[in-house]
Amino acid sequence: MANTMHNKSILLGKRILLGISGGIAAYKAADLVRRLKDRGAEVRVILTPAASEFITPLTLQALSGNPVGQSLLDPAAEAAMGHIELARWADLILVAPASADVIARITHGMANDLLTTCILACAAPLAVAPAMNQQMYKNIATQNNLATLISREIHILGPAAGEQACGDVGPGRMLEPLQIVDAVIDIFANTAQASAENAKPLAGSSFVITAGPTREAIDPVRFISNHSSGKMGFALAQAAADLGATVTLISGPVQLTTPQGVRRIDVVTAEEMHQAALNEAQNHHIFIGCAAVADYRVAEVSTQKIKKTDDTDDMQLRLVKNPDIIASVAALTQNRPFTVGFAAETEQVEHYARLKLAKKNLNLICANDVSVPNQGFNADQNALTVYSATQVFQLPLQSKTALSNALISLIYEQFQHEKSH
Ligand code: PMT
Repeated sequence: MANTMHNKSILLGKRILLGISGGIAAYKAADLVRRLKDRGAEVRVILTPAASEFITPLTLQALSGNPVGQSLLDPAAEAAMGHIELARWADLILVAPASADVIARITHGMANDLLTTCILACAAPLAVAPAMNQQMYKNIATQNNLATLISREIHILGPAAGEQACGDVGPGRMLEPLQIVDAVIDIFANTAQASAENAKPLAGSSFVITAGPTREAIDPVRFISNHSSGKMGFALAQAAADLGATVTLISGPVQLTTPQGVRRIDVVTAEEMHQAALNEAQNHHIFIGCAAVADYRVAEVSTQKIKKTDDTDDMQLRLVKNPDIIASVAALTQNRPFTVGFAAETEQVEHYARLKLAKKNLNLICANDVSVPNQGFNADQNALTVYSATQVFQLPLQSKTALSNALISLIYEQFQHEKSH
């Protein structure tokens, strides 16, 4: 339950269509209208035919300040605000009290009066506050109906238990108006939170992320590589895409499935990754070099499998330097992306990370102490210290998924900050 104390103003301007069905608790609906209005909600009321035996439309019209709907077939009312317009108008339909009969009709999708027709035509959330005799409430038919409504994410408010108008004691009393108002506040608060969570704060931004190792061939069957699994880079790509960014993932050879919503370019060697990175970098806002790129490749790759010779115990391979991919990206003079590197180090981690930040002209560097067991290469968790020229950010040990969410948000904040200066 959301904290109603902090959400008192959430009903301000909310449009609540209150359906009142037949039952002795209908008299409490007058107080409910007043309480909802006190919180700033706009209220329109629909009375079922049975409800109008318990409470007059005039009372509810006076309290809500709006005409009360009673019949689907009333041409004057339909001309003023027809059932479809009423259904579109509502931010929430609240049925209080909800009799066993109206609950059954909602469950079966009936549209045989104004209230059930509006419910069927409305895309907004629906809440019902049951009120009925305790035996009717306990009846398996009612219980099955309520279970069906819950499975459709319809909010069931109450009922309370206690002495009933008919003299029985048990569950089936409608909640008190103030309890219903609190429950309605919670529904709006939870909906607001869910839509904030669904929001895509990185929409409109774009990332290129490199991931995994590169492989440098020695001959057709052997290569030089490293222990990178690609997990860190893939988690970063997933996090950025989940937050709404457009993501291009340049991946070395790994055993991972492409994160949802991400465009993937597969490469094998450092030179291929270099070419792909240069093709993509200028079309994206942010470049993250998470790949463990082989610093050297074999100068002359043998076209045939190199054979063991019987007369020598050693063998020499001449290696040449690979291009520094991230340094080339950071050196772009036109449309240079905000450039973030990683530094996998086993000693003097901060010192070497800061050297790479400066030497490669990066905006940020993520120092990764790979001497610590169970983090870094091929692990499911990691810890990073992120350096800019002037700031330090600690991201403690956590799953690569959680770490990536934090890191992508941090990178995006720093990117925005730099853009505004
Ligand atoms: O893939 P996982 O198993 O999940 O492991 C994740 C990781 C340990 C590989 C990752 O967190 C990491 O630290 N990646 C960087 C590894 C690395 O090669 O660091 P480096 O210090 O050698 O390189 C520094 C930076 O320059 C890196 O951004 C690297 O991508 C880049 N680089 C290096 C060499 C080169 N020729 N071109 C480059 O762009």
